[in-house]
Amino acid sequence: MTDLPADDAQRLQWLRQQLHHHAHCYYVLDAPEIPDAEYDRLFQALQALEAAHPDWVTPDSPTQRVGGRVLDGFATVRHRVPMLSIRTETDTEASGARAFDDRVRKELELTPADPPVAYVAEPKFDGLAMSLRYEDGVLVQAATRGDGELGEDVTQNIRTIGQVPLRLQAQARAVPPVLEVRGEVYMRRDDFEALNERQRERIAAGAKGEKTFVNPRNAAAGAVRQLDPAIAASRPLSFFAYGVGEVSPPDAGGPRWSSHHDTLLALRDWGFPVSDAVARCHGVEELVAYHRRLGAQRDRLPFDIDGVVYKVDRLDWQRALGFVTREPRWAVAHKYPAQEQMTTVLGIDVQVGRTGKLTPVAKLAPVFVGGVTVTNATLHNEDEVLRKDVRVGDTVIVRRAGDVIPEVVAVVPSARAEASADHAGPEDTPQADLFTAAARGPVFRMPAVCPVCGSAVVREAEEANHRCSGGLFCPAQRKQAILHYAQRRAMDIEGLGDKLVDQMVDEGMVRGVPDLYRLGLNALARLDRMADKSATNLLQALEASKQTTLPRFLFALGIRHVGEATARELARHFGGLDRLMEASPEQLLEVRDIGPVVAKSVHTFFQQPHNREVVAQLQACGVHWEEGGAASDAPQWLAGQTWVLTGTLPTLSRDQAKALIEGAGGKVSGSVSKKTHAVLAGAEAGSKLDKARELGVRVIDEAGLRALLQAAPVDGG
Ligand code: IVH
Repeated sequence: MTDLPADDAQRLQWLRQQLHHHAHCYYVLDAPEIPDAEYDRLFQALQALEAAHPDWVTPDSPTQRVGGRVLDGFATVRHRVPMLSIRTETDTEASGARAFDDRVRKELELTPADPPVAYVAEPKFDGLAMSLRYEDGVLVQAATRGDGELGEDVTQNIRTIGQVPLRLQAQARAVPPVLEVRGEVYMRRDDFEALNERQRERIAAGAKGEKTFVNPRNAAAGAVRQLDPAIAASRPLSFFAYGVGEVSPPDAGGPRWSSHHDTLLALRDWGFPVSDAVARCHGVEELVAYHRRLGAQRDRLPFDIDGVVYKVDRLDWQRALGFVTREPRWAVAHKYPAQEQMTTVLGIDVQVGRTGKLTPVAKLAPVFVGGVTVTNATLHNEDEVLRKDVRVGDTVIVRRAGDVIPEVVAVVPSARAEASADHAGPEDTPQADLFTAAARGPVFRMPAVCPVCGSAVVREAEEANHRCSGGLFCPAQRKQAILHYAQRRAMDIEGLGDKLVDQMVDEGMVRGVPDLYRLGLNALARLDRMADKSATNLLQALEASKQTTLPRFLFALGIRHVGEATARELARHFGGLDRLMEASPEQLLEVRDIGPVVAKSVHTFFQQPHNREVVAQLQACGVHWEEGGAASDAPQWLAGQTWVLTGTLPTLSRDQAKALIEGAGGKVSGSVSKKTHAVLAGAEAGSKLDKARELGVRVIDEAGLRALLQAAPVDGG
């Protein structure tokens, strides 16, 4: 830090400016320029300086994100520009967009000869509306929407959100003296899952007063309304900006600020996250296409959305269209199918997973949720069932969002209370049928023996999970172990699905993975729904799987805590299976990224005679790989580089391309930023390619990658 000023006051300014910049890179651009440790060092330097000069602490200092006091309640805030709601329609298809476009054109007195109206289409984020007030570029207040006129002052909680700038960035454009930014506070799905996982662990460890959250929206709302800012800070929130409230003076944005799209660009310049999923659309056809496109991507987005919002782009037209009651005529929301629905619990089954974990699963009356029909939903573990008090006959809320397994989030309380009372609920309420539902079943208990193999069920201290102690004696664990072995990223045995494995294990044809390689055409052809052709194909797939790589084989063995990345590290470090099998826990600890838990698990696995026997049998059946070379000695041409994949490559699958890059020491990331070294692009590459061009990131095709790695041996078949 040679350029660190010697004078305390100057140093303070310099540190704050650095920290603001790096927080923006990290939280908003997703492209940190310095390591976390360096950020921490700057942060601590600022903290020390402020401790020496307490009167220099200002509310926009990066140290002030957390540090407010516990409140008795929230002060009321009057919104100077009301926070409106949007007219929401559920007729999602083309007719909805068409009706909106018709209304807009009619109000604006446009004729069919006029060109299509320009709109901005945005996701309808499923979080909480927030108004952020900046005076002279500094965040002075954050308020909830409330009734649109009066909201609550939640400033100290909102400060804890890394994506919310405490001070506006002023490099790209001037900052208005007063600026209110409107947007949505939300929680990402992965953050939500991790938070709930943490909560479940806390509950299992006996923490009082803790609960899990029903969905990301509720978790976000709970965090925003926390009276203790330290708790709010521990709940991971995110933010998207989508509009402005008061801007003063009104022309502060500059003369060229004439559309909603300009507003979004300005917000981005000032340092706010604006969703990449926002698009400019011309006319109704493009709105319909946007709706369809976003609907198809919905499950893969990292956050929940409940629909789309269309906004007339031109601000003068927005003003001309005005409002009806509290809703603007220039915007409309169209909903997607709900991700939460009510249904009835018909039964509670217990499933046994690959590692023997017992999972209670609710059998449900079929319900359409998040775009698919759901009949099973996870209840996670016994504690969760008891805490939510889910019983057979209950009416429950089921949630299915993204690729996450559907889960029962809560029992509908009124239905529960009434159903367990002596008499049924009032006949005349629309929900009367819920109250007369079958009587509630007994309190759920995990069985004492495995429902599949009858072995004892154990629960380790401080563990939320019950496990079957049967190991590979248990057919359920055996089936899962075989499916794990056969999956694409492991041995890649095409055509070996769960129905087939069920039959093979149930009929005693396959007791363990080596038996797969002893199957003959006759045996296979006897199975249900197995034509000669598919039997031949399966045998070919089994044959092809024998030629593999050490990382794939290690992953396929299903050693606890050994995922693909760990398997790669183990293979790289030891070079050969024999050396790995003989490794002591201390030697295993020398492997990059391997800690005591994984080291112990790997060691224990290879100490078990039956596991060594399985490995020997597989090798005797012809399973083989190249030792010592591929993983361990591959030249690390791409060490330290981050690559992004997009589009379809001529010969390599995504997994293969990823394996090549990682085999040469590179990393593969999902999004393009200034830090990306190169984008590997194939046919029909999408927005990542555009982004790469925009940022001047190098773009390479498959041939280019191969040329780069010419001397590197190819890993991953
Ligand atoms: S614009 C006048 N844009 O939807 C229009 N709202 O009923 C003001 N919401 O609770 C809102 N995503 O928090 C707008 N892209 C988006 C939105 C959005 C979600 C929420 C908003 C409010 C409700 C409006």
